[in-house]
Amino acid sequence: MSATARKSAPMPQDIIARKGGTPLVSLTAYTTPMAQLMDGICDFVLVGDSVGMVLHGLPSTLGVTMEMMILHGQAVRRGLTTTMMVIDMPFGSYEESPQQAFANAARLMAETDAGAVKLEGGTEMAPTIKFLTSRGIPVMAHIGLTPQSINTLGGYKVQGRGAAGDQLIEDAQAVTDAGAFAVVLEKVPETLANTVTDAVAIPTIGIGASAGCDGQILVVDDMLGLFTAFKAKFVKRYAHLGDDAKAAIQAYADEVHARSFPGAEHVFADEAPRKATK
Ligand code: KIV
Repeated sequence: MSATARKSAPMPQDIIARKGGTPLVSLTAYTTPMAQLMDGICDFVLVGDSVGMVLHGLPSTLGVTMEMMILHGQAVRRGLTTTMMVIDMPFGSYEESPQQAFANAARLMAETDAGAVKLEGGTEMAPTIKFLTSRGIPVMAHIGLTPQSINTLGGYKVQGRGAAGDQLIEDAQAVTDAGAFAVVLEKVPETLANTVTDAVAIPTIGIGASAGCDGQILVVDDMLGLFTAFKAKFVKRYAHLGDDAKAAIQAYADEVHARSFPGAEHVFADEAPRKATK
């Protein structure tokens, strides 16, 4: 990757500078062609561990490995020139100790050329975030519904309702104090998301949160209608590419059965007419 290409993509400081300004636009990406479509439109692209569910058919994000993240991170990086790439730390790669987190975050950054890592957790992960950020690794935090913890959260429920809201505000403050440059707020009540956005000095990135956040993120396959196994309330479908793809596959099968594909325009003439053989 050339230094010139890298220079034009936003850095964590540029993301922080957007606090309270024009909302930040982001989507997940897992492949080069999709990253190319987002390049220059999104402010940052997240190589999310949602790749496990969206592209690999896993039941949750828990089975995602470092190797999967690196492979998809490298593919996405090849599609970006002016958009920053953030990469998720997969379950089990950072929770044990700050040292474990550093080794794996450094590997993700070195092998994918990501601009930052994202990890899930609030107050309990603050010491790890501080360890990483003080050693040259920009960190985006992720609080509220943290999908890697569904087994302790009891499923994909709205987080921070009622008295639990105070904990979410504490989490947001803790990750900010630890040096995170932005924080994802997933599936939290709208008013709480607004309170957190007002309370912290770093941009909040909402998913199932509030239009008042400093930015928004969606899983790309959700918003394009490519992932249809289920649809969360917070997903808006901007296209129905899954339906279009299915119709195209059916049309192809019908034409193959009818021998109307390939047509004359898809086949090749021989150089000279073939002599008839006896
Ligand atoms: O993995 C992912 O796609 C995410 C976003 C939903 C924020 O973490």
